[in-house]
Amino acid sequence: MEEMTLNRELLKKDAPIGVFDSGVGGLTVMREIMRQIPNEKIIYFGDTARVPYGGKSQDTVTRYSEQIVRFLKTFQIKTIVVACNTASAYALDILEKASDVPIIGVVRPGAKVAAEVTGNGRIGVIATEATISSGIYTKYIQELNQNVTIYGKACPLFVPLVEEGLLEDPVTDEIARRYLTELIDIDIDTLILGCTHYPLIRSTLGKIMGKNVTLVNPAYETARELKEMLTELDLLQEKPPVLGSNQYQFYVSDKAEKFVHFANSIIKYGILSAKSINIEEY
Ligand code: DGL
Repeated sequence: MEEMTLNRELLKKDAPIGVFDSGVGGLTVMREIMRQIPNEKIIYFGDTARVPYGGKSQDTVTRYSEQIVRFLKTFQIKTIVVACNTASAYALDILEKASDVPIIGVVRPGAKVAAEVTGNGRIGVIATEATISSGIYTKYIQELNQNVTIYGKACPLFVPLVEEGLLEDPVTDEIARRYLTELIDIDIDTLILGCTHYPLIRSTLGKIMGKNVTLVNPAYETARELKEMLTELDLLQEKPPVLGSNQYQFYVSDKAEKFVHFANSIIKYGILSAKSINIEEY
């Protein structure tokens, strides 16, 4: 695929930012972007018809991600945030090469924080099977700090539990204990929540890991890096959007009602609607 360069002519300050995930997890990143850069317009896409991505092949996740980028680009967006670790792990390089708008993912920012905060050099990463098997966190963390050991643990049941809204539930508790026991036994001091769905069960994870383990949610650092990048490119929106301008818009590939209900529990903004689209058309 041909390497593309940014088309500065097309990038406008008042254009929206496109954010996507396989489902509701990316809302944890969007929430942080809304907090750190509150004047920006955001178009969120959740691929609710095809979630989960975590057990799928690189080819499939890349094809899905490319379709979503084509959809988001119909809004003349000024940047894209891949608010999904699995898509960041499998498709970010390919998307970046083909894109004329800047794109950032969530893995590099999360890796950076973990490399900085670990004291004993033992870092755990919990994520989807795809993200763990890609080895991407290990690669990025060791680029920054070679004196660390990274222990990856795939937690495939977390995404369906979150998508079903079982955020504080004995079932989630039991499954989390089974997944996390081996990380407790090897004495990690830092745990990366390497899937954007996982911050939604943060209290369960924190309770099990105990207070000596720092939980790293890459969302904060991703929003910070996004702000920095927009500032550097002179694309940061300083003025609040005009009233009634539909600052935040939500699109999904499956039923909108369930998404709206869930989104309202994550983002306290009063999300009134989401539109369902056929992503296979893009
Ligand atoms: N939330 C996504 C991630 O960060 C994807 C989860 C999934 O669809 O399996 O990896």
